[in-house]
Amino acid sequence: MSAFQRETVLSVRHWTDSLFSFTATRSPGFRFQNGQFVMMGLEVEGRPLLRAYSMASANHEEALEFFSIKVADGPLTSKLQKIREGDTILVGQKATGTLIAGNLLPGKRLLLLSTGTGLAPFASLIKDPEIYETYETVVLAHGCRQISELAYGEKLVEGLRADEFFGPMVDGKLVYYPTVTREPFRNRGRITDLISSAQLFNDVGLPPLDIETDRIMLCGSPAMLADLHDMFSERGFVEGSHSKPGHFVIEKAFVER
Ligand code: A2P
Repeated sequence: MSAFQRETVLSVRHWTDSLFSFTATRSPGFRFQNGQFVMMGLEVEGRPLLRAYSMASANHEEALEFFSIKVADGPLTSKLQKIREGDTILVGQKATGTLIAGNLLPGKRLLLLSTGTGLAPFASLIKDPEIYETYETVVLAHGCRQISELAYGEKLVEGLRADEFFGPMVDGKLVYYPTVTREPFRNRGRITDLISSAQLFNDVGLPPLDIETDRIMLCGSPAMLADLHDMFSERGFVEGSHSKPGHFVIEKAFVER
C-alpha cells in the first residue's frame, strides 16, 4: 500500500504574490483531528515531493483545504503554486501533529496565536464545534507583515460569522485579532509584544493572560515560536504533548518550503 493518496484539485485561489489556498478531493478513508498536518505535495519527475501541511479544512468537511506560501525557488511551492483545477496532488495517508485540543489541560479561554501561513491549523480548529463547547472564548490572533496577507483569515472568519450553523455558535465566543507589522492598520505590532504588553487583550476588552484559564496553541515563524515559548515558560506555562497535556502547544513540523 502506498503511503499517499492521489487527490484532485477542486479550486485554487491566489491571495497575494506570496500566498494561495486550494481545495482538493478527500479520500473517504482519510481521517484527521482538527489542527493536524499531513505530508502533501506533487509527483515531480516520477517521485513524490512532499512537505508537512496543516489541513485548513475541518474534519467534518468533504473537501481538503490547504493554505500555502509561494517560494520562487522552493522545490515544492514553486511548482505547487501553478496547480489548477483538475490537477493531481499527493496527500499522505496519516495525519499527525501537536495542535490538538487533547494536548491541553482543561481551560476556559483558548488563544490561537499565528503568523503567516501558521494560520492554517487554526482555520481548521475554528470550524470545530467542539472547541466552542470546550472553551468560553476562542481568540484567533494572526500576525502578518502586510494587510493583504490577512485576507484569507478575514474571509474565513467573515464566512463563519455569516454561516447559518456556525454564526450563532461563534457569536460572542470567537475573537479575531489580525495584526500587521509593516504598514498602518488598526492593530499594529508583533504578537509577542501585543501579548506581553496586554494590548491585545485591552483592544478586545478581555482580561489579561491568566495561567488558570488560558490555554494556548502556537503556529508560525520559528522566531515567533521561540520567543513565545520563552515568554510563556517564564510565566510558568508548561508545554504540552501527546504524552502529557500542558498549558500550551507548539507545532514544530514546518520549515521553509
Ligand atoms: P516583523 O515584520 O516585525 O518581522 P515573516 O513573513 O517573516 O514570517 O513574518 C510574519 C510576521 O511575523 C511578521 O508580522 C513579523 O513581524 C512577525 N514576526 C517575525 N518574527 C517574530 C517574532 N520573533 N515574534 C513575533 N512576531 C514575529
